[in-house]
Amino acid sequence: MPTTNTGASTMDLLTHHNKELELDGSQFRDLIEKIVERLEANIDSIDTQDASNEALPQLTLSKTFPEHPDDLSTILNQLFSEVIPYGYNTSGPGFLGYFGGGGLPHSAAADLIAGTVNRFIGRWVAAPGAVQLEASVIRWFEAMVGYPDSARGTFTSGGSQSNQTALFTARQHYLRGKDLRRARIYASDQAHFSLNKSAMICGFPNDAIRYIASDRSGCLQVDLLEALIEQDRKDGYLPFFIFANGGTFTTGAVDDLTSITTIAKRQDVWVHVDAAYGGFFALTEHGKALFKGIEQCDSITLDPHKSLFLPYGTGALIVKDGKTLKQAHEIDADFYGPIQDDPSRIDFCSYSTEQTREWRGLRIWLPLMLHGIEPFRENLEEKLLLAKHAANILRNTPGLELVFEPTLSVLAFHLVILDQSDENLRKINQALLEKINSKKTIFLMLTTIKDTYCIRFCALSFRTHLDRVNCGLKQIQQATLELQETWNTATTTQ
Ligand SMILES: Cc1ncc(COP(=O)(O)O)c(C=O)c1O
Repeated sequence: MPTTNTGASTMDLLTHHNKELELDGSQFRDLIEKIVERLEANIDSIDTQDASNEALPQLTLSKTFPEHPDDLSTILNQLFSEVIPYGYNTSGPGFLGYFGGGGLPHSAAADLIAGTVNRFIGRWVAAPGAVQLEASVIRWFEAMVGYPDSARGTFTSGGSQSNQTALFTARQHYLRGKDLRRARIYASDQAHFSLNKSAMICGFPNDAIRYIASDRSGCLQVDLLEALIEQDRKDGYLPFFIFANGGTFTTGAVDDLTSITTIAKRQDVWVHVDAAYGGFFALTEHGKALFKGIEQCDSITLDPHKSLFLPYGTGALIVKDGKTLKQAHEIDADFYGPIQDDPSRIDFCSYSTEQTREWRGLRIWLPLMLHGIEPFRENLEEKLLLAKHAANILRNTPGLELVFEPTLSVLAFHLVILDQSDENLRKINQALLEKINSKKTIFLMLTTIKDTYCIRFCALSFRTHLDRVNCGLKQIQQATLELQETWNTATTTQ
């Protein structure tokens, strides 16, 4: 009788197969309840947790699979005390760095369902109900921006993947069989760096992107755009893609989409708007006005893990003419069988580079179904007001300068001390940031805008409210005073 490498005979293994991995319902409930106990404590203490923890975890890198099982409480202890508490507390109310939506726990509950039932979302036939539910969520997004029924979309891991998919779709639409070295892409100097990555991955050379200077509010200078496209065309290049901003990383600026799409129509080029951060502000009156013309854009990146407050790993791309998204991704594979064309029977694998993936739509659907859209809208209105409020306080704090007025919920400021060199101002602002973050009430980041060193303040989490912002603002003012004293004393004693 042949034996396996565990020493058991193959017949033994077949007749007494290992059932350890098959939890029954009550074992599963037991596992989840123990995990939920820890999560409950985590959620209930979120207001008192530090906004960041710069200490390094004492973990040792493990190079081999674990040979022996550990018990659940040891594993959970390790996770909740040695892993999770390090770095930035991106789910807490004090996280005002990057674009942190907080991560609605409802979505984690949806992930529990999605992971447990483990449906295959790539093809309609494999999970018709689940696919239709996901298609409805995409339809909600399309309706928000005013796209027609012919639009299609796909969920992605985030804004970078959405931007890349948009660029690839436009490439396939405009440049099949053409020399990619002659291709030209247009963006303002405030475009997110995921554009560079996308261009590299889509096979474009470094100089394919033509950056256009942004104006004082951080928007692309539209009057420079058309002349540049025309000149490039005269010089034998292939202009095909404008990458517009729908809320830049540093200033929240939204480009003039109406003018850009008018030019794009005349020049026959694709307009993509990177609304990864700003897109869902279109739910507010202020945002609606800013995003005027968005329905004319060919494709839009939206990141529910930013301005819809969901956990990381939730992005979306919607494309006005859904056929283009499909034509870019569809291939003939016998094992697929016939691909659906019916809008209510979408085969998502023909609209994306992904085939097998998680049921991402459910994590968006569940919180929206449970609460309706209104609390999301109100939270976004509140974030706009918080940024305005913070801007007012910072503007009126002696020594601080607002570098850009907030267009949405992000702003940038810096401390200016007279007669200091650029290098000293950089050091001063670095020190200011360190002082603010060391209090661990809020967490801010540094950024540079047009070579100016700034501190970036972004209110986006559903957990961030006036009390936390006011606390943070007081600490900024206190740290500013301390630094002014230190530097003024240093200067007078020199
Ligand atoms: C404007 C903008 N676009 C794209 C991205 C990339 O999104 P993600 O980090 O989800 O890939 C970001 C990230 O901050 C962003 O701010």
